[in-house]
Amino acid sequence: ADLRARNTFGVAARAPLLVEVDALPALDEALAQLPADASPLLLGGGSNLLFAGDPEGAVLSIRAAGIALSADDGAHARVRAEAGADWHAFVRRTLELGLCGLENLALIPGTVGAAPIQNIGAYGVEVGEFVDVVEAFEPATGRSHRLSSAQCGFAYRDSLFKREPGRFIVTAVEFRLPRSAPPRIDYAGVREALAAAGITAPTPLQVFDTVCGLRRRKLPDPAVIGNAGSFFKNPVVPTDHARALAAAHPGLPVFPGADADSRKLSAAWLIDACGWKGHRDGDAGVSARHALVLVNHGSASGAQLLALARSVADSVLHRFGVALEPEPRIVGASW
Ligand code: EPU
Repeated sequence: ADLRARNTFGVAARAPLLVEVDALPALDEALAQLPADASPLLLGGGSNLLFAGDPEGAVLSIRAAGIALSADDGAHARVRAEAGADWHAFVRRTLELGLCGLENLALIPGTVGAAPIQNIGAYGVEVGEFVDVVEAFEPATGRSHRLSSAQCGFAYRDSLFKREPGRFIVTAVEFRLPRSAPPRIDYAGVREALAAAGITAPTPLQVFDTVCGLRRRKLPDPAVIGNAGSFFKNPVVPTDHARALAAAHPGLPVFPGADADSRKLSAAWLIDACGWKGHRDGDAGVSARHALVLVNHGSASGAQLLALARSVADSVLHRFGVALEPEPRIVGASW
């Protein structure tokens, strides 16, 4: 099967077998068709992976996309979405249902099933805080699980599912969403954009529209130019290291880490400072709009994009002593 149209980088790749599951009850039957020895590569919207080579085994895509309100106590509602639902359409649907919480995560490409894998986050919100249960099938044991949010082990762009690739197939996600909550507009850019529009107490829909505007302005649209969003995670370093770097490099943004001993740096800033923004090696490039986004200007291969990513990371390591880690999953090569 040809995977070029199934990854937002738009790089060429082929899989020996592609199995699509249109309804969840058919998952067992679909898995029975697959070779038993290797777990399939799970493909959602293809917006968070780089095919640096062809996948060795089968590719599984869950297309079941049902969305249902399952319980509502007036203050909160529980909404269950199947893994194949489009993330952005799902966020819009929850707002139409009068629910809030996910508006800061508008316009993130991909599917609902992929959202918990890397604990998608943007503009001060991570999806993990609204996930109540992840329904997942474990091929090795043949069992279905309902994993609580705590069991999912969410962290910055990380989860149990990312730490143990291949162990689970996420089939659906249940969210617990409030009917009303204070807007989360502390993130630089969001508050300013709202203030510029004269809005001080925004509705969830206004936050949603603002986030869509910011993303459209700052991030290249994968429908126009191939990319997978941020290519690197923002590096977390010991607080002392962050202090020393900030002293040596005025303007370096430093964000809080998970605890007092760590700080998060801006990978975009470090890459930009090394002069990569807008750089091109053939059709593999660093976006001219945002230094953290690698782009495919046309016919770059995954291997060329990976080579560029390594050059970028090497230069940041050399100049700042900070190791960058890729954010998307890399298939067919190791970092
Ligand atoms: N910056 C530069 N050069 C650039 C772009 C940004 O120096 O070309 C600096 C800015 O000055 C800013 C800082 O980098 O101070 C941070 O930039 P931005 O606010 O755009 O956010 P980010 O840290 O680069 C993260 C997420 C994005 C998410 C945005 C908004 C990661 C790896 N990335 O990017 O998520 O949309 O915040 O919340 O955490 C993704 O994961 O694919 C993704 C796009």
